[in-house]
Amino acid sequence: MIKFDFSRVFQPNIQKGLKEDEINEVKPKIQEAIDDMKENTPGFLRIINDQEILGQVKDLEEWLFTFNDFVVLGIGGSALGNIALHNALRPLNWNTLPKEDRGGYLRVFVADNVDPDFVSSILQQVDLKHTVFNVISKSGSTAEAMANYLAARNILESMGLDPKKHLVFTTDPEKGVLRKIANEEGIRVLDIPQDVGGRFSVLTQVGLFSAMAEGIDIDKLHEGAQAAKDRCLNEDIWNNPAALIAAIHYLFYNKGKNISVMMPYSSRLYYLADWYRQLWAESLGKKYSKDGKVVNVGQTPVKALGTTDQHSQIQLYNEGPNDKVITFIKVENFDRDVLIGKIHNEETLEYLGGRYLSELINAEYEGTRSALTESGKPNLSVEFDRIDEFNVGYFFVTYECATAIAGWLFNINPYDQPGVELGKKLTYAIMGRKGYEELAETLKVKKEFVI
Ligand code: PA5
Repeated sequence: MIKFDFSRVFQPNIQKGLKEDEINEVKPKIQEAIDDMKENTPGFLRIINDQEILGQVKDLEEWLFTFNDFVVLGIGGSALGNIALHNALRPLNWNTLPKEDRGGYLRVFVADNVDPDFVSSILQQVDLKHTVFNVISKSGSTAEAMANYLAARNILESMGLDPKKHLVFTTDPEKGVLRKIANEEGIRVLDIPQDVGGRFSVLTQVGLFSAMAEGIDIDKLHEGAQAAKDRCLNEDIWNNPAALIAAIHYLFYNKGKNISVMMPYSSRLYYLADWYRQLWAESLGKKYSKDGKVVNVGQTPVKALGTTDQHSQIQLYNEGPNDKVITFIKVENFDRDVLIGKIHNEETLEYLGGRYLSELINAEYEGTRSALTESGKPNLSVEFDRIDEFNVGYFFVTYECATAIAGWLFNINPYDQPGVELGKKLTYAIMGRKGYEELAETLKVKKEFVI
């Protein structure tokens, strides 16, 4: 199970920290948010343990395991969950292991950029004859996903391979060009439930299919998700991690802490912070409130890695402006460990010899959070007893619920992303997509200053 330690956001542990009364003051609003989630179940909660979704993914199992490599072509919410699952739940050297050491499961790559160097390097690593490409796009119109699809298909066709045998689309059940092509050409296709937005879709077909390809237990992910759902709909907010995460961030935001750092002390969990970064930014960064007022709210999420970023960021977090709420992620029991050699007869190294790296990383986590506490910087901890499917599923749903509740507190719609649209449309204009010609005018600046 995951434990949440909120001790270091409150007074007297943190000077100028929160008072318990402040949480109690926002309790009625949180209650409303929870009631709303119960009455109008959001898609990301509805899909938990949905046997139709799990079944649709499992139906492709036999066919899937005829391949060796799996490449996701998607971006944003259609990729970050896949990356988080891959890194958290498979060894970090998974893609370099021989097939027997992978238990026959597939290597998984995620092409979530259109950087030609990056995409080429993925295409070079995979064995195209034994590769399945999973094009994930809810809209079916995102330039990056579609360009990578067309590039991959072009290569498959130029090699004389039948694209139908190498492609699976994951898209809207009815709309969009991917659905249309799938229907016309008989390409395998998985649904993205219409009531689940991209960044909330990791536990739908979006994340589950690539996870299953690499042997991740997708039922266990949903078991963890279910446990988190039960806990995060709990009316007793002092026993509800999502409610407390939302309340703490909201209250501190109103006191000028407009940055939310997530810092896992685990390389495998680093990508959970990446997933969180999108969830928190795109959901809560909004111009308008639900009643149409200009509010320009949003807390900037930042990711950091323990212990690596102690030597890059902690100086700032400790002594710089008190404008952050820091979330640590700690792992109690690592799957693998490394013994530190007892080699030199040197006093400065003596404390290390004969100990394990797991002891050191967790000592550094303790030391860092205590130092921050000492300097009055609010911080909370998410503690994994171990990294497994249950806990990762639990983490996802806890943070999805926290985001929904925070959206309610900020009185904004956490499920849309109008601020992404203009950039997308201007790209279409630059690339000459029909119907977007007039927008090219918007690209002109009044005065140039280029040196
Ligand atoms: O959270 C979101 O809705 C976005 O980040 C989308 O996932 C992202 O823009 C990709 O969209 P699509 O799946 O339509 O290609």
